[in-house]
Amino acid sequence: MSDWNFDEEINRRNTASLKWDFADERFGGSELLPMWVADTDFASPQEITDALVKRAQHPVYGYTGATKEVYDSVIHWLKDVYGWNVSKQAISFSPGVVSGFTMSILALSEPGDKILIHTPVYTPFFDTVKNNNRELVTSPLTYTNGKLKINFEDLEAKLKDGVKILLLCSPHNPGGIVWSASDLQQIGELCVKYDVIILSDEIHADLCLPGAKHYPIASLGKEIAKRTVTFMAPSKTFNVAGIQASIIICENEELLAAIDATQHRLAFHGLNLFAFEVIKAAYTSGKPWLDALVVYLQQHAETVQAFFAEKMPDIKVLAPQASYLVWIDCRALGLSDEELQTRLIKKGKIAVSPGKSYGPGGEGFIRLNIGCTTKTLNDGLQRIYAALKAD
Ligand SMILES: Cc1ncc(COP(=O)(O)O)c(C=O)c1O
Repeated sequence: MSDWNFDEEINRRNTASLKWDFADERFGGSELLPMWVADTDFASPQEITDALVKRAQHPVYGYTGATKEVYDSVIHWLKDVYGWNVSKQAISFSPGVVSGFTMSILALSEPGDKILIHTPVYTPFFDTVKNNNRELVTSPLTYTNGKLKINFEDLEAKLKDGVKILLLCSPHNPGGIVWSASDLQQIGELCVKYDVIILSDEIHADLCLPGAKHYPIASLGKEIAKRTVTFMAPSKTFNVAGIQASIIICENEELLAAIDATQHRLAFHGLNLFAFEVIKAAYTSGKPWLDALVVYLQQHAETVQAFFAEKMPDIKVLAPQASYLVWIDCRALGLSDEELQTRLIKKGKIAVSPGKSYGPGGEGFIRLNIGCTTKTLNDGLQRIYAALKAD
């Protein structure tokens, strides 16, 4: 029995929650059960709440900066969780991971430069490349026997052809894949060979489910580290996305200086004082809570797999290795993406992320957020069943 009760029902309605208060509007439904955007319904660790309350009780909220304790907490976390030794000089901050990699794209490439992403992938990967007038190059993941894999032949052919940046999603959203050390090593070596910068979004890394191990790609060798910028955050891990606190790690001084200069140019002058409190509290005291959370999430992932295997065996679930997002293959139902969404919204009254929004290879899939109580999960599964079972 864990010290934390992840089954506690917390009413998030009327808290300006994107997931709960905006689902009906976003999906065009009513009274939808929200199992879409990637935050969870769990209370953050008490240590985080205590740190926020304590700071809020000091009634002066003037300008702030990252103290030694903040840097130490990040350094300690990276060493403790990943065995990765990082110096203070290699650390910077951004409000979000997406803003971090976007500022890095602005700093490290020019309009027209080629940026490669694997598809399907988290939607802002497409947006950031296109919105900043870089050329999008896609390397589709292959999907065989229920597993998503990197097509290294295709990747190499494309990297060779003048790609400037590889924007990597590790662990992968929506596939829930924790890339193996050898996959990452191979990616890294190709990027060294073809002089490609790696921007590695590792926001889901802390949420490895039992049995999976995440390797920060930059930790796999000096040459790889020299060309890699890593983006991490307590946001997904500790359910503090609304606080907006993320970490940029880059051991190449020149690259990091260019990113810092771009942040300066954009007048981004650092995080707010609550963000620093959260980083400190999360990274110094959050580990026992996280260890219990991933066990709970693993049970949910197994529940989803067992549910579909029994009730709708045509629907295939990709067993996630990290995080709380489950990628579900509904293609055997023969429904178009529009029909799939309409049924889920109108008949099932549930909001799940449409696979199509993750780009090519996502058609006919849905992404289910299982970062909720078991009661909500079971309710959600029943709604999906009601929506998608044969008439
Ligand atoms: C892979 C990935 N990167 C980044 C983000 C969002 O990060 P942020 O809110 O810090 O910009 C998400 C959120 O779902 C994500 O899944």
